[in-house]
Amino acid sequence: LVLVVDFGAQYAQLIARRVREAKVYSEIVPHSMPVEEMLARQPKAIILSGGPQSVYAEGAPRIDSALFDAGVSTFGICYGFQAMAQTLGGDVRKTGLREFGRTPVTVSEPGTLLAGVPEDLNVWMSHGDAVHAPPAGFAVLATTEGAPVAAFEDVERRLAGVQWHPEVLHSQAGQAVLEHFLYDIAGCKGDWTTTNVVDEQVELIRQQVGDKQVLCALSGGVDSAVAAALVSRAIGDQLTCVYVDHGLQRAGESDQIEKDFVAVTGTRLEVVDAEDQFLGALAGVTDPEQKRKIVGREFIRTFEATARKLDAERHIEFLVQGTLYPDVVESGGGAGASNIKSHHNVGGLPDDLQFSLIEPLRTLFKDEVRELGIALGLPESLVYRHPFPGPGLSIRIIGEVTRERLDILRQADLIARTELTAAGLDREIWQFPVVLLADVRSVGVQGDGRTYGHPVVLRPVTSEDAMTADWARLPYDVLERISTRITNEVDEINRVTVDITSKPPGTIEWE
Ligand code: XMP
Repeated sequence: LVLVVDFGAQYAQLIARRVREAKVYSEIVPHSMPVEEMLARQPKAIILSGGPQSVYAEGAPRIDSALFDAGVSTFGICYGFQAMAQTLGGDVRKTGLREFGRTPVTVSEPGTLLAGVPEDLNVWMSHGDAVHAPPAGFAVLATTEGAPVAAFEDVERRLAGVQWHPEVLHSQAGQAVLEHFLYDIAGCKGDWTTTNVVDEQVELIRQQVGDKQVLCALSGGVDSAVAAALVSRAIGDQLTCVYVDHGLQRAGESDQIEKDFVAVTGTRLEVVDAEDQFLGALAGVTDPEQKRKIVGREFIRTFEATARKLDAERHIEFLVQGTLYPDVVESGGGAGASNIKSHHNVGGLPDDLQFSLIEPLRTLFKDEVRELGIALGLPESLVYRHPFPGPGLSIRIIGEVTRERLDILRQADLIARTELTAAGLDREIWQFPVVLLADVRSVGVQGDGRTYGHPVVLRPVTSEDAMTADWARLPYDVLERISTRITNEVDEINRVTVDITSKPPGTIEWE
């Protein structure tokens, strides 16, 4: 275990991911965690992250020197590097000379940390203070114009640090530097993989669940499917999955659950056909937030009724959720050792349904969940599926949602997705919504006749996390095929447009 101590860095999660890419398991802890508590977890190494503050600022987080007294291998990054230098008696000064973004570094003496990296390195920096003299016992390895000490190490005490951000992609040899610390200084082995997670979790879930019954709501997305597959591997037919078919899915999605999930895992699946119920509740509604509220409410109602029914048949004690590590970190919780907690009104479930939650993915990042899905035998079509919003196509029809409009949109959407896949672009594109402007008509001509149909909007985007996004530059020939096929094959659509707005100012979805 490597603990990444978060000093308020934008990059703490990125550091944890890079460490895991080096096949060393890592978790993030807040800097406010007492050192004894960190040490109690028996970390093989500790990484001090960057942070927004100056080590001189009032109230700036400090490092308890007990950490260094305990003799744990420690690596400081940016703020963590300066804080480490300061705590151990080095000279850190306010320079006023800010280095920001791409910065050249000169390696004066590679030592262990920078062994084999180029002498002139381009790295990503973001700092205002600088270390001017290292603490006693440390060797200076590199310098920049603004930082007389840009990297140091004390191999004897297994301590090292860099002023720059080795975790970001723009830092040359970043991963190599991290790995030198992890393997060569801290003595980590690098034998952690997501396959170990399967074995570990299967064992844990078996112990927790015993012979009790478990319920899981499948959304059709990656997270719930992988979580369910893992639980299914552990306890087999003590698991029942529920899939609420609300009629707002894309073409073929409900069948795909059968084909990609049930056929592979053999899980007992309860499909609830609730199309009439959802479309009835959505009738006449055009406001986007109203649509969301209605779909959310009806989903809870349906799931609750199904859970009650199943609970009456066989007493259910546990509920599986596909919570991921970023949610856990953001909500301030530690991943800890346990993947179980009592349910606190999850998704609005009533309190008289007393489930405990099983969250077997709560230590994992999205890309690791995908690897796990593959390791569990789930097909790529499911594991690499694009994210799809809970309210489904209801928020991709601008205007009232009706069965006819859903059918039109499903046809157009299927063509767009099929052509994207055929062009081999699924993995490059984050999401590819197709939006039906159902209340807009435009004049066209087709065959010999005038048409008066609806436009659709293609909204292909690239993104890392959906927080920001850019419009995707799809090749013209792909766009052309999609446009031709949609206007030829979908009667009601006579115009295809492409949305070229980034996020911000646009959002990914139109509603
Ligand atoms: P926006 O449109 O806000 O979308 O840029 C960001 C990401 O969130 C998805 N999304 C939703 N997911 N319920 C969901 O479960 C919703 O109401 C919802 N609205 C947007 C969207 O598809 C994108 O991935």
